[in-house]
Amino acid sequence: MTAFAGAIPIRCGRLTYEVGMNRLSRREFLGVAASIGAVAAFARTGRVFAKSKVIWTERRDLYPEGVSSGDPKPDSVLLWTRRPGADANAVVHLTCEVAEDAKFARIVTTARAKLTAASDFTCRVLVGGLKPAREYWYRFTDDEGGGSRIGRTLTAPADDDTRAVRFAFVSCQNANFGAQNAYRRMIFEDMKAAPEDRLGFVLHLGDFIYELVWYPEERPDYYDRKVRELVRYASGEKHENFHIPTTVDDYRAVYRAYLHDPDLQDARAHFPFVAIWDNHEFSWLGWQSLQVFDGKTSPQQRRKVAANQAWFEYQPARIRKPNAGLEHFDGPKVEDVAIEKFDEHGLGIERNNLAALNSLTGYRALRWGRHVELIITDQRSYRSEDPLGHDEADAFTSKDFPQFVDEPAQRIVDAGRSANDGKPPATIRFGDADVPNFAKDSPAQTILGAQQKAWFLERLKASRATWKIWGNTTGTLDMRADPQNLPADAPRWPGSGYAGFGGGDHGSAYVERGEIYDFVARHDITGFATIAGDRHSFWAGLSAKDLPPRQFTPVGVAFITGSLSAPGIVESLEHKFPKQHPLRALFLADHGGKQEPAINLLLHHGVRTCFEYAKSGDIAKAKALSNRQLSPHVDFVDMGGHGYSVVRASADRFDVEFVCIPRPIERSTTDDGGPLRYRVVHSTTLWKPGELPKLESKVIEGNVDLMT
Ligand SMILES: [Fe+2]
Repeated sequence: MTAFAGAIPIRCGRLTYEVGMNRLSRREFLGVAASIGAVAAFARTGRVFAKSKVIWTERRDLYPEGVSSGDPKPDSVLLWTRRPGADANAVVHLTCEVAEDAKFARIVTTARAKLTAASDFTCRVLVGGLKPAREYWYRFTDDEGGGSRIGRTLTAPADDDTRAVRFAFVSCQNANFGAQNAYRRMIFEDMKAAPEDRLGFVLHLGDFIYELVWYPEERPDYYDRKVRELVRYASGEKHENFHIPTTVDDYRAVYRAYLHDPDLQDARAHFPFVAIWDNHEFSWLGWQSLQVFDGKTSPQQRRKVAANQAWFEYQPARIRKPNAGLEHFDGPKVEDVAIEKFDEHGLGIERNNLAALNSLTGYRALRWGRHVELIITDQRSYRSEDPLGHDEADAFTSKDFPQFVDEPAQRIVDAGRSANDGKPPATIRFGDADVPNFAKDSPAQTILGAQQKAWFLERLKASRATWKIWGNTTGTLDMRADPQNLPADAPRWPGSGYAGFGGGDHGSAYVERGEIYDFVARHDITGFATIAGDRHSFWAGLSAKDLPPRQFTPVGVAFITGSLSAPGIVESLEHKFPKQHPLRALFLADHGGKQEPAINLLLHHGVRTCFEYAKSGDIAKAKALSNRQLSPHVDFVDMGGHGYSVVRASADRFDVEFVCIPRPIERSTTDDGGPLRYRVVHSTTLWKPGELPKLESKVIEGNVDLMT
């Protein structure tokens, strides 16, 4: 590695994320760059600008995955590109220039980087010495003058900056059978926004890739969509009718394929991103380093390291990697060894499992001005096994009630051996059966894992920002229905109370969620806001550990963003739900030749509202039958929405705008990314200790009668 204009890579130990809240010395900065595997470039101080020493000619074909920037701080940001060499032995030297203007007349720093096949020719440059809350432009040029497209980035505001912070949060982009029109819309709106309304960054809450890939000749259609040719895995493995990656080259190939999407690539060149993985960056039903396919769980430590390596190479993020060298990710050598022993938190203590999980640490906190601290957690790497994923949990379902799982049983198995104050029942009653409590000897479910949870709680308590924003890739709001209120002529629900919808996120990890919310209440933490993805649906509501008939006491506000493009449950119901099913009214309403998402009403208002709406089509009359005890935590739910969400956080208000687009089946041909379905803003005013948070909504455009 060579460097000039202040770019001197050095080796350093562990990165402390919190120090970035203050400006770093040059020496500390170089250490940070080394620990996250980036070349360092330090901007000049004062108003002395350099002239460009390269002759840059844009050659996008040489940089097929574009450019990107990530994890901005007040004085620094990470820059990224990929410039493949001619063959596996090639060495590519790039010059990276950073300027205050898009014409590169005011260059603040330049760095040199060496790219090799060891990092799949990806490149990371950490630029420091920048001014807070400023726009910068960057570009890369090879030694023959072949230049990347120009990227735009922004630094974070200084910690004492009192201006409002705006940013978008997104999740779940599928390029195999979806179009990224939401990014086109986001860029369009940002370009025409007033300066104070422009986005500071995009938070990507995971499912940046879907590692499951369908080949069009094997499955031409997926619900409403045509399956597109995306990637062929050189070493892939086939399950059912899809293919999964098994090597780092396979995972790299799927990242490259996604980054060839023009709208995603434009978004990465236009906004800095802050990214964290969800499940699909490793494996659909994966947890720790285990994969689950065809009903079987298998240890895949080598694939977990491969997934981490590809993520590290393709996402510019300030996260720790195993080796201090700057040119590649030198992952641990692990074997796929059966994981048989688990500690008291359900963490597999097999050596290769721990090494694979520790090969990349994604959880971190970042700060934007006085009002925003973003605390991002990893919901997949440290979690215990989902008890509701067990085959035995099927005993709490009924074939007459698609999707429903007995809620009281969900709570008992989540709690494991801690249920009933440490005296878990041997059996759980459901209908006429006494079902053996398969979880009675297991630890209570944890999604964060003990170590990450301790870090998370400490950060929450220590934060001095107005809004402590939990970037949780998965949802936290309960999903439930009230089948106990069905009319006498409907099928009879075997349970005695509410039905949940199974496990997978903090919506049914009751013990851990309660622990976190009790901590928030005990420490008088106000301004606690959770933003999430994963559910392929828009939700706005209040964070509460319990719902009626238990005590309902919210401690924060919570939002889930719809998928950018991956299909959601409504699309699946439209294609699969039987027309003559006696409970069809709970899921879909048939009016005017259209199937409407009655499931939104089910989750928010209950079964009586659904039946009335199916019968009369009168939404006001239907909502008059709302069960107010069912979901007092929900303000808005749309199980069929796609798009993105925008946060605006100021000294006294927290707004989340849902920008919903039509089902993104084909790429929009217009600059605005196509029409909107609706735009709704949910707002809360900062509450004081002892006060309860409240939400109110304002519809800006579109009809959201079935969502509210
Ligand atoms: Fe997803």
